[in-house]
Amino acid sequence: MTTTRQIARQMTTFGKGILAADESIGTMSSRLEGAGVNPTAQSRRDYRELLVTAPDLANGVSGIILCDETLNQAFADGTPFPEACRARGILPGIKVDTGAKPCPGLPGETITEGLDGLTDRLAGYAKIGAAFAKWRAVFTITGDTPSRGAIVANASALARYAAACQEAGLVPIVEPEVLMAGTHGIGQCAEVTAAIHQTVREHLALLNVDLAGIVLKPNMVTEGSENPGPPSSPEEVAAATVEVLRGWPGDLAGVAFLSGGQPPQRATANLAAMQSHDTPWPLTFSFGRALVSPALAAWHGDEELVGDGQAALSAHVAASAAAVRLRGQLQSV
Ligand code: G3H
Repeated sequence: MTTTRQIARQMTTFGKGILAADESIGTMSSRLEGAGVNPTAQSRRDYRELLVTAPDLANGVSGIILCDETLNQAFADGTPFPEACRARGILPGIKVDTGAKPCPGLPGETITEGLDGLTDRLAGYAKIGAAFAKWRAVFTITGDTPSRGAIVANASALARYAAACQEAGLVPIVEPEVLMAGTHGIGQCAEVTAAIHQTVREHLALLNVDLAGIVLKPNMVTEGSENPGPPSSPEEVAAATVEVLRGWPGDLAGVAFLSGGQPPQRATANLAAMQSHDTPWPLTFSFGRALVSPALAAWHGDEELVGDGQAALSAHVAASAAAVRLRGQLQSV
């Protein structure tokens, strides 16, 4: 039987990342509408089929995160998505949280929900072929947030999710995201991200979560998107991010960054700069928007343009994978 440690190693294979294509029905529908596509179960399916069938996708990604709707859908030829992904050498994963909701008692802050019935849902996802799962906690930096209460509540939920995944034989992607929105500087982002990671580690330890069987999906440490100063260089982002990550022990399977709405080129340049740092865990990507937005724009629902959409995805995956492969050139792997 494949263990969660083995799956986590596969997910963080050198030179590959994880494609995040797990937008909820609501989010996907509004992105399709924005691209001029009528949002239906079929158009959402067609779009995800375009992504999975992009030629040579497996050269740059080890896994793809899907949402519940897609994991239960089939290609136009009837092949279920999990089977189609595996046939291409790509591990299928599933977003299992049900979203960030207003947190009672903490105005303006959120708690990610989805723990109710999670054990049964995980068993069902494993049965239809999922190899891993994802849960995203969200934090906003303002004058007085994130509060200690929001950090603890979300860290506790992340740990309960992670422990449940490992019991079900699925690798949990643990995603504590500090949003880029805000005027904060890179130093404040570093402080907040470090405090959140510390609390997440404590809660994972309390529930005996095996760090060698998880993939951490953090934000890169950057200034806020409304910060008035000049943007930090890739080297500054890389140094600040790796410094925060040093709190994680060497047995963590790997780190796969979210893009957080950064322009694709910036996310890739930051990822490339990370590779000159000597770390005990691989540093790769689990980008969503930075990879799929160009594909959606190129395709925009026209079946004649499926190849263009796939070419856009492949180009961005190749650039991100090339960034990760710099590690082999800048230091011994
Ligand atoms: O949960 C967020 C996604 O998995 C990553 O999305 O790269 O667009 O931030 P992003």
